[in-house]
Amino acid sequence: MSKDCVKLQFDDCVATITISRPTALNALNNTVLAELASAIEEVGENRACRALIVTGEGSKAFVAGADIQEMASLTPDEAVAFSRHGQRVFSAIERLPIPTIAAVNGYALGGGCELALACDIRLASENARFGQPEVGLGIIPGFGGTVRLPLAIGRSRAAYMILTGRHVSAREAYEMGLVSEVMTLESLLPRAEELAREMATKSHVAIGYAKRLLFPDDEALAREAQRFGQCFATDHPKEGMSAFLERRPAKFSD
Ligand code: CAA
Repeated sequence: MSKDCVKLQFDDCVATITISRPTALNALNNTVLAELASAIEEVGENRACRALIVTGEGSKAFVAGADIQEMASLTPDEAVAFSRHGQRVFSAIERLPIPTIAAVNGYALGGGCELALACDIRLASENARFGQPEVGLGIIPGFGGTVRLPLAIGRSRAAYMILTGRHVSAREAYEMGLVSEVMTLESLLPRAEELAREMATKSHVAIGYAKRLLFPDDEALAREAQRFGQCFATDHPKEGMSAFLERRPAKFSD
């Protein structure tokens, strides 16, 4: 599959996937999701590959979430399918038998934060911002955030992020335990590569088993997708997403 928005590079035992859709801060539309799925498959098939880095192109965004323009007109059933689709792609990353590192180089919002959460380890540059801003759009996180965020940082901090929709800085994310290290943007990829190569020297058999024990509950993901779809049975997503696209505050009906 030719890829316009997802770059895949192999450097002996380390693969790097770069999400590259600069016109929309690397937001995940259907094309990006399809290309990402194909890149993950290629990584899985490469037996020489011992670690994966996922990052975003540029110095502003890792991934600014699922594509709001594409989501704005979804029916409830389409929304469930969209959520399940994104969840499957992210679970495919999580289920790779090799360690995965999100090198978060800017905004990691909504689906972007969820993509980082699907990786085993998160490193952040100082300019990174994390958030699950979905409630401001009239929806809930739909790509695994309600399941993986509490597992990563605990229920209370996850509730703070999901229910306020606030963005947190790289430093706050570090204090919450959402990221393992914070560094300058210039050092981010070199450090990710260093860590990837360090993990590549460990037993890949042991790493594969250890990872499996950390997988989240599939039923919880299915419940998230159902609730995500239910949001679209109301007029709140239409209002929330139109407000974003028209650059005005949302006004949700009773
Ligand atoms: N979807 C589609 N387009 C997006 C986008 C998204 N998630 N995020 C940014 N863009 C687009 C903007 O519409 C804008 O496009 P135009 O230049 O054509 O107008 C371009 O990217 C640049 O963005 P801004 O002008 O808004 O840049 P900024 O510096 O003023 O703000 C930002 C940056 C704070 C990240 C802001 O863009 C923003 O809030 N983006 C939306 C973040 C968000 O809500 N993400 C969650 C999506 S919902 C989700 O992901 C659900 C799920 O779990 C499945």
